[in-house]
Amino acid sequence: MKVEQEGIRLWARPCGSRVTKDQRVLTKSWSCGRRQLRSRFLKSPFTHARSVRVASPDPVPLTRCLLEMEAAKGNKKPVRVIAAVCNNRGIGKDNQMPWSIPAEFQYFLNTVTRVSRPGNMNMMVWGKQCWVSHPDSTFPLPNILHAVLSKTLLTVPDHAHFVCESLDAAVRLASEPPLADLIEIIWIVGGVQVYKEAMEHPWCDLIYLTDIMAEFECDVFFPEFDKKLFEVQDSFPDVPNGIQEDNGIKYKCQVYKRKTAGKDQQ
Ligand SMILES: NC(=O)c1ccc[n+]([C@@H]2O[C@H](COP(=O)([O-])OP(=O)(O)OC[C@H]3O[C@@H](n4cnc5c(N)ncnc54)[C@H](OP(=O)(O)O)[C@@H]3O)[C@@H](O)[C@H]2O)c1
Repeated sequence: MKVEQEGIRLWARPCGSRVTKDQRVLTKSWSCGRRQLRSRFLKSPFTHARSVRVASPDPVPLTRCLLEMEAAKGNKKPVRVIAAVCNNRGIGKDNQMPWSIPAEFQYFLNTVTRVSRPGNMNMMVWGKQCWVSHPDSTFPLPNILHAVLSKTLLTVPDHAHFVCESLDAAVRLASEPPLADLIEIIWIVGGVQVYKEAMEHPWCDLIYLTDIMAEFECDVFFPEFDKKLFEVQDSFPDVPNGIQEDNGIKYKCQVYKRKTAGKDQQ
């Protein structure tokens, strides 16, 4: 059974099992208050199910058009990219991070889990490989709903909340009811394809890029982005200034801001 809600199809499924036709579905009864929504969504609406799969086979222009409708309704969510990049633009090797810098990882966690109001949440959007490369011990993360991007996954992985077939599907999920009231920021945490798409997304306002000041052997690389559109900031709230060092590796936390972005972002 499935429900069509403004073009997004939502299935509920028990964690760890396959999506089947007779599983319970999300319904419009989701339209409720924030507290009710949290308990309904994360706990009880489907006694066995805590995760949903979101499919968006729409062609991109239609999806973007629907996103713009949400933006017009005031439901536009900031899409923000966060990555650590070494001297040769490398970001990963053998599906792992090429370096170990605990303080930089803590900065990443602090940044993505920060919300302006207790009870609000952020959405983290992960490529499938990136998700599987993270050890179970990373989870749960406070204040986060996790969306894993994949066109092939049939089940929602442990600790994740959604599987989405595209970045646009994830952005729509976060910016439309019932999640719109809950989500503050959509954090894009890699890998390469989703970084690239996110930095071209019209709602992408900030790119948090840590410059790892060393060379590491890598097999995946951070995509180029438009430096005429995004401008590096001299300083930024909650971002350490100057060169940092941990585990013998120097690094610099930087933020690139979209030049045309509104002035309410900082
Ligand atoms: N340094 C950093 O800050 C950083 C951050 C993140 C990741 N990394 C590193 O990057 C590497 C992993 O990145 P990766 O690029 O190889 O893999 P990835 O993006 O994590 O995973 C690729 C898979 O994710 C799905 N996917 C990705 N983008 C999608 C999209 N826009 N729409 C639908 N599905 C999408 C596809 O799965 P299906 O084939 O199932 O459709 C694709 O095959 C690891 O080495 C990791 O350590 C580093």
